[in-house]
Amino acid sequence: MSLTDEIAVRRTFAIISHPDAGKTTLTEKFLLYGGALQLAGSVTARKNQRAATSDWMELERKRGISVSSTVLQFDYDGFKVNLLDTPGHKDFSEDTYRVLTAVDAVVMVIDAGKGIESQTRKLFEICRRRGVPIFTFMNKIDRPTKDLLGLLDELESVLGIKAYPVNWPLGTGQDFKGVYDRQAKKVHLFERSAGGTGRAGLTMHELTDAEVEEALSPSAYATSMDELEMLEIAGAEYDNAAVMSGNLTPVYFGSAVNNFGVQLLLDGFLSHSTPPRPRNAGSRSVDPADPAFSGFVFKIQANMDPRHRDRIAFIRVCSGKFSREMGVTHVQTGKRVRLNSSHKLFGRERETVDEAYAGDVIGIVGHAEFGIGDTLTEDPSIVYNEIPRFPPEVFAYIHSSSSSQYKRFRDGLDQLMQEGVIQMLEVKGSVRREPLLAAVGPLQFEVVQYRLQSEYGAESRLEGASWSIMRWVDPSMSIEQIEATLPTGAALALDTRKQPVLLFPSEWAMGYFLRQNKDVILSDVPVDA
Ligand code: G4P
Repeated sequence: MSLTDEIAVRRTFAIISHPDAGKTTLTEKFLLYGGALQLAGSVTARKNQRAATSDWMELERKRGISVSSTVLQFDYDGFKVNLLDTPGHKDFSEDTYRVLTAVDAVVMVIDAGKGIESQTRKLFEICRRRGVPIFTFMNKIDRPTKDLLGLLDELESVLGIKAYPVNWPLGTGQDFKGVYDRQAKKVHLFERSAGGTGRAGLTMHELTDAEVEEALSPSAYATSMDELEMLEIAGAEYDNAAVMSGNLTPVYFGSAVNNFGVQLLLDGFLSHSTPPRPRNAGSRSVDPADPAFSGFVFKIQANMDPRHRDRIAFIRVCSGKFSREMGVTHVQTGKRVRLNSSHKLFGRERETVDEAYAGDVIGIVGHAEFGIGDTLTEDPSIVYNEIPRFPPEVFAYIHSSSSSQYKRFRDGLDQLMQEGVIQMLEVKGSVRREPLLAAVGPLQFEVVQYRLQSEYGAESRLEGASWSIMRWVDPSMSIEQIEATLPTGAALALDTRKQPVLLFPSEWAMGYFLRQNKDVILSDVPVDA
């Protein structure tokens, strides 16, 4: 296939949702439809299966949350699908945000019984700002739902995005029997299979067929017909350009756990979504079909698999063709590097990748010099600046519990810092020797302690620090002047790149400082970022 053909069949996306809306279930069903996963016959087996595909981190099992993103690639109906899993817990949002820089579209899963929840709203905002197409799956229609037309209104009033229902459920809860495909004008009636383990049985009908009316209770049938009529009169039109720019979301209804509506979502998403598009790199735009290979690191993970104790940099390919052993420039150091040891990952299994195209994600093993956000390219004039940064809001000193483990403790901390799991600060004038850690959420500390212990054999102890705000100072400012006017409780520190930062205990303290120092400009991202 030519480069342009390879790009045209690629779809790279993530699923975003509030915890418990059904992201994991939907991921599994997509893999089932993609033939990448054989699921056994019961919910328990599904749970075992889930553990088997992602049990490299015990924490994930212990807390029932997905700690780290996984990249899954599968073929479906002529498409090469790259599904980037996003960690769902709110404290891992920084990692999630980074993953979202590597996708071309998202599927937003909403629990139809609950409507739009807080985490969905945050993730949606990020996607909205990036201008990527957002497809919506209203899940759990097999359970009591909120008013369906009200759910569409919620998309518009809470998220500010127009909605176009591609299909419409016929009945909800126990009465959920099928969906009406508004574009093909066909009814899909579903048959339940035990535990939703296979593809859902399906019969196709016209809306006027007697089977449709017979399948539903009289009241469910009447409600569905009324709703469909209202949509035809008052609903938005399908507008492809608005979908592509993230201003209109195609909405699909279904039940992931029962496989109802999953195939319609997958088919609709793949055909209406977008292949990789040009990406901004400073002042220029890089076309995915540009012959020069380029990509950026969006995630670094060490010790992913206890059997391979190494470090993997995940690279989103943005242009050209990747071939194993190729030489590229690591733009941040200006050095030429050879990209051997390239892997595709599926759960804990690794497979060597020989070639990859725009939209694909490759894992490169080793290369301690690669950092998050770095560009690798055959054309050094391409420099991506894709990774957003967020100011830390929680701070704690970390102590090694035993002096005999100190070296391992430091090695582990250095590695985790490089991965971007945590930031480390040096408080000016402090007599303390323990590192001060800064994180976006407290669970990040727990991950640090857990990984220090499990991967480096180093026990640690945390001691909370009372700051809650961190801001970068313009490096051209006089540090002495700033230090002299700091309010009580505030501190001056250096980040790992020796950039000056200020730590404040409260908004009030920061406001007070800014009123006293009207010429000081503070930034919530590193000043040269
Ligand atoms: P998440 O990754 O977004 O956090 O959600 P996950 O898929 O783990 O789903 C959360 C719960 O919702 C699970 O139940 C799952 O089975 C259930 N669920 C997902 N889709 C549907 C659906 O379409 N209908 C209904 N009724 N439930 C659905 P659980 O009891 O927490 O776990 P499990 O015992 O089912 O594994």
